[in-house]
Amino acid sequence: MLRRQFLGAAGTALAANTLAAPAALTASPALDDGPITAGDWTALRNLFPLTRDYIQLSTFLLASHPKPVADAIEKHRRAFDENPSDYWHEHYLTIDGEIASATALYMGGEPHQFALTDSTTMGLGLVYSGLKLDPGDEILQTTHEHYSSDMSIAHRAARTGAHVRKIALYDNPALFNIDEAVRRLKDNIAARTRVVAVTWVHSSTGVKLPIRALADIIDAVNADRKPADQIIFCVDGVHGLGIENQDVSKLGCDFFVAGTHKWIFGPRGTGVIWGSDRAWRRSNAVIPSFSLSYAVWLEQVTQEQVPLGQHMTPGGFHSFEHRWALPEAFKLHLQLGKANVEARIHQLNSQAKEGLAKMAHVKLYTPMSPALSAGFACFDVDGVTPDDVVARMHDKGVIMSSTPYRQSYARFAPSLLNNEQEIDRALAEIHAMA
Ligand SMILES: Cc1ncc(COP(=O)(O)O)c(C=O)c1O
Repeated sequence: MLRRQFLGAAGTALAANTLAAPAALTASPALDDGPITAGDWTALRNLFPLTRDYIQLSTFLLASHPKPVADAIEKHRRAFDENPSDYWHEHYLTIDGEIASATALYMGGEPHQFALTDSTTMGLGLVYSGLKLDPGDEILQTTHEHYSSDMSIAHRAARTGAHVRKIALYDNPALFNIDEAVRRLKDNIAARTRVVAVTWVHSSTGVKLPIRALADIIDAVNADRKPADQIIFCVDGVHGLGIENQDVSKLGCDFFVAGTHKWIFGPRGTGVIWGSDRAWRRSNAVIPSFSLSYAVWLEQVTQEQVPLGQHMTPGGFHSFEHRWALPEAFKLHLQLGKANVEARIHQLNSQAKEGLAKMAHVKLYTPMSPALSAGFACFDVDGVTPDDVVARMHDKGVIMSSTPYRQSYARFAPSLLNNEQEIDRALAEIHAMA
């Protein structure tokens, strides 16, 4: 971008907005009346080009784009292809704020608290790289973390010598117990613990952690500490977002990191970080932002005038046609109704788990209770490896997955794109493996 153009545009935007909270960041966009009525799962399924040749029990892995998202991507793609420079200049000063507003409308929190990323992994990498830590400070993480959290923390430790400690919050997922998990966290917080890292819903076992109860322990510790020594509570929330009817800013954590290309059905290559103001202030940006932070560098505005999350949004040009289409996915979820979505996904998962639990040749690892689990049914079939279960089910027309962890299980992930008959047919195929 030309320096002159940036100055002109930034000046106009700043003149039009309150500097501390630009208008684009506080306005909530009105929802369109979409083609979907709340809880109409058949109409929802019809918005996806997803093949019907298979029963899809792994749709969380990477989203198929529903029609409103695909249409928005196509609209932006065409405009960029016709005139990339003008199209970008027309939108770049306001679009991140508009996306943050749409995100906050669905997820909760304030628009200025959201950074935009390309994936859960990018968000975790940014959060764990950016947190301010002193030598000797400790990151306390669980042994249940996905590769992406585990390695983001390991890379941080390798670069800085930060001390990392790992604890298990449960031994047997099927017997997951909230009091036990809370006790284990409480017993392991040390004087130099500055960060606690957990995952909301474990893609390894389907266990859903009680984030609020864990946050209560951390809040109690923080109450006796001076601000600089307080613990920052970080959650990988990717499997939970798009299932649970939850305002993430009220969950109790300080950072909530998620890709939006899984349960949310957002464009592939999109994700978000929500951070409390306190947490963002304890973080440094890792990759220069192309937001108003650029105008700070040009000495046009001060850092305090830049929304916290925007400063942490990695800059450079992106596949903007995808990022800019993200609000459509949130609108779709709001049209379906967050409570309906939660109830439907739990209903289908309960059906799957109850069916699996009845089979003598199957061992179910995911807790039965929807209060302790979400989105997944993880299991073993006697005498068949998880990868062989996946391969044999694929031959029978069912796409599922094995968990990508050292201890691997076969995994169903019943979603909004399934129905009761599909779950029964998948269960019948597992039954036939006896
Ligand atoms: C718990 C968890 N965190 C992070 C990721 C990585 O997500 P992304 O592909 O959005 O980086 C996954 C992948 O499914 C996961 O299961």
